[in-house]
Amino acid sequence: MKVKPGLEGIVAAETGISLVDGEKGRLIYRGCRAEELAGARSFEEVAHLLWKGRLPDTAERERERRRWAEARVVPAFLQELIAGIPRETAMMDVIRTAVSALGSPSFEGPPTEEQAIRIASLLPTIIALRLHHLKGSEVPKPRPDLSHAAHYLYLLQGKVPAPAHVRALEAYFVLTAEHGMNASTFTARVVTSTRSDLISAIAAAIGALKGPLHGGAPSGVESMLDEIGTEERIEPWIREQLAKGDRLMGFGHRIYKTEDPRAAALRDIAVRLAAEEPWFRLAVQVEKEALRLLEEYKPGRRIRTNVEYYAAAIFRAVGLPRELYTATFLCSRVVGWAAHAMEQAAHNRLIRPDSVYTGPVPR
Ligand code: COA
Repeated sequence: MKVKPGLEGIVAAETGISLVDGEKGRLIYRGCRAEELAGARSFEEVAHLLWKGRLPDTAERERERRRWAEARVVPAFLQELIAGIPRETAMMDVIRTAVSALGSPSFEGPPTEEQAIRIASLLPTIIALRLHHLKGSEVPKPRPDLSHAAHYLYLLQGKVPAPAHVRALEAYFVLTAEHGMNASTFTARVVTSTRSDLISAIAAAIGALKGPLHGGAPSGVESMLDEIGTEERIEPWIREQLAKGDRLMGFGHRIYKTEDPRAAALRDIAVRLAAEEPWFRLAVQVEKEALRLLEEYKPGRRIRTNVEYYAAAIFRAVGLPRELYTATFLCSRVVGWAAHAMEQAAHNRLIRPDSVYTGPVPR
């Protein structure tokens, strides 16, 4: 048996949900290019596309908007639970705990779209409850007239957000909703394959997402930019990291060996929002220099800018605090997890790979 420790090149499922084409730099959701959906379609519409296989018509669009808005209310016990978790507990751990607490009986049985909407709608409220609890401020009253993306910013910031900020965040949500068999999605599929419930699949996927090699990267990008600080320090700083074998956050991808189409789309949006900001000019310079030096230190590995690099810029431009970066990614990717959980359940086979034993044997 040939061991593939990262499972690269192993095909574990057939999927109709998305195509991640690493050579051509394409991301396709159910036949539509993700970059074309971003800016043209709402996050709720794209969730419908990923779950049902087609975009909603006008009547369905309105119905979906209402369903998402109605599902935002957090049960009282969850509010108490969130308030009772120690202050020092990290946001992703709080969310994983809160999601776990939802569990049975409402989420028993095979995953459904109804359950998926409920969880996806609740996440921003869970995040806002925790954030306001820590700040000692009130969570704003729900506004059913606002879209999912607008409502997220509204809950966090306490005011109706600027349309440019909503458009940017919504495009980010659309671009990152789904991405094939990444680590957290695979986790969700493994859990679903045991005929466990959607809450368990999502709680496990949250655990996979928070790692710095996956969804934890955008805050790493900001820390890197902070440490670099000025233009003169860019080259020596990057050389030092690469010389000691450290990774540059926001670069490299298991599948994309050309530009990540999501990074390109987010860069365009970030330029429109923040071109004049000194931190953004520094980020653009760092990207240029990083790509040059990655080629020098890692020739032939084709390491390019990934989605997390400009996600960090979008988050900063719309005013999200750094501790919410991974949580914000979670708010979009939960849609992809649910799509995969439903697909896995519909054509289930227990996922159970093999391993090669290298330990001692009894004499
Ligand atoms: N910085 C420096 N070197 C990197 C790198 C990065 N961001 N990404 C990959 N490399 C190097 C590896 O060190 C390795 O070098 P080697 O051949 O000399 O050992 C080579 O490129 C191949 O890397 P490998 O570990 O096989 O790639 P992978 O498919 O496992 O990595 C990631 C994918 C995403 C885990 C990796 O690129 C990474 O750690 N990136 C930074 C974290 C990040 O931005 N994550 C968000 C992903 S969307």
